[in-house]
Amino acid sequence: MEVRNIVGQRSNILITAPFSEAQAARLRQRFDVTVVPPTLAGVSLAELGLGADLAAAQVIVAELDQVDRASLAQAPGLELVVSCRANPVNVDIEACAERGVQVATTPGRNAEVTADFSFALLMATVRHVSAAERWARSGQWTDAAVFEPYARFAGIGLHGRVLGILGGGAVGSRMVRRALGFGMTVKVYDPFLAAGHFGGDADVVALDELLATADIVTVHVPLTPSTEGLLGRRELALLRPDAYLINAGRAAIIDEDALMEVLREHRIAGAGFDVFYSEPLAHGHELFTLDNVTLTPHIAGASPDVVTEHSRIAADAILAWADGTEIRGVVNPAL
Ligand SMILES: NC(=O)c1ccc[n+]([C@@H]2O[C@H](COP(=O)([O-])OP(=O)(O)OC[C@H]3O[C@@H](n4cnc5c(N)ncnc54)[C@H](O)[C@@H]3O)[C@@H](O)[C@H]2O)c1
Repeated sequence: MEVRNIVGQRSNILITAPFSEAQAARLRQRFDVTVVPPTLAGVSLAELGLGADLAAAQVIVAELDQVDRASLAQAPGLELVVSCRANPVNVDIEACAERGVQVATTPGRNAEVTADFSFALLMATVRHVSAAERWARSGQWTDAAVFEPYARFAGIGLHGRVLGILGGGAVGSRMVRRALGFGMTVKVYDPFLAAGHFGGDADVVALDELLATADIVTVHVPLTPSTEGLLGRRELALLRPDAYLINAGRAAIIDEDALMEVLREHRIAGAGFDVFYSEPLAHGHELFTLDNVTLTPHIAGASPDVVTEHSRIAADAILAWADGTEIRGVVNPAL
């Protein structure tokens, strides 16, 4: 059924986020859809010369562009904003609430690819993939050293080992699935989940138990006042000397000084990090000098598949809005 606004025209959807053509076509069956090329400038929509499109829009889909008071002033018919972010920092939520405009996000849009990458980082870390490649490229694999890498880069297998996951949300729960595929036993620490949340797939356990028993610990909690420094000196000391630590969540969840001590003194087997206390990681930072860490430049969520996924979630939200059914990921549900 076509969706018409109060003056009987088809509703207008204005999309300034990168968007999948297939989802735009799905929306065009019911709405007038304007897709403008993303500027990637992160400026107010009011500054992009979209006057007529803003004036007509009932729905805006934006990723980096700011939906601020100035944009709202140019969009009198606006009813819904979909921010293609997990945290809609590009939208003035308060101004939207004052106007009765609903704001939705695209939750979990990068969860699959982030879990893929986190698992890749985990495997690269325990199997020394980056170090082995650096070694091979440096010309050290010679006739005299033909079997040297076999010993030098020997790493543990995953089958039968214990993965400890901090945070069993969108990414953490996908890590559970991946770990099961590798024959691992999985434990999750997440005080917001019931003990039986993962059924027989994973046990929800206390933090100390997880840290003391896991072969590999991987961090997937958001950075909040309750998670900042969640792994401090005491918690890191619980890790076994043969354990690995992976963090593709947020750096500040692990206390920096305590972590550097543990790595410097080789108190765990190794670590893999995609996130850092200060980004970019400064040239010459001590982490670059340690041979027991694998480092990647905050790319866990970097994939064109994220656009496909946020487009699907945004289109679902718009269809739910049009049908008057529940919209997933609404940040101002009181409206
Ligand atoms: N490296 C990257 O490029 C990249 C990409 C995506 C996400 N991330 C990070 O991963 C984090 C997790 O993403 P998500 O989509 O799974 O988030 P999510 O909100 O779906 O899941 C977070 C989980 O953590 C749990 N949690 C909250 N507070 C906790 C606490 N104090 N102790 C233990 N568990 C707690 C929640 O109950 C929830 O189940 C994000 O917040 C982000 O920081 C990084």
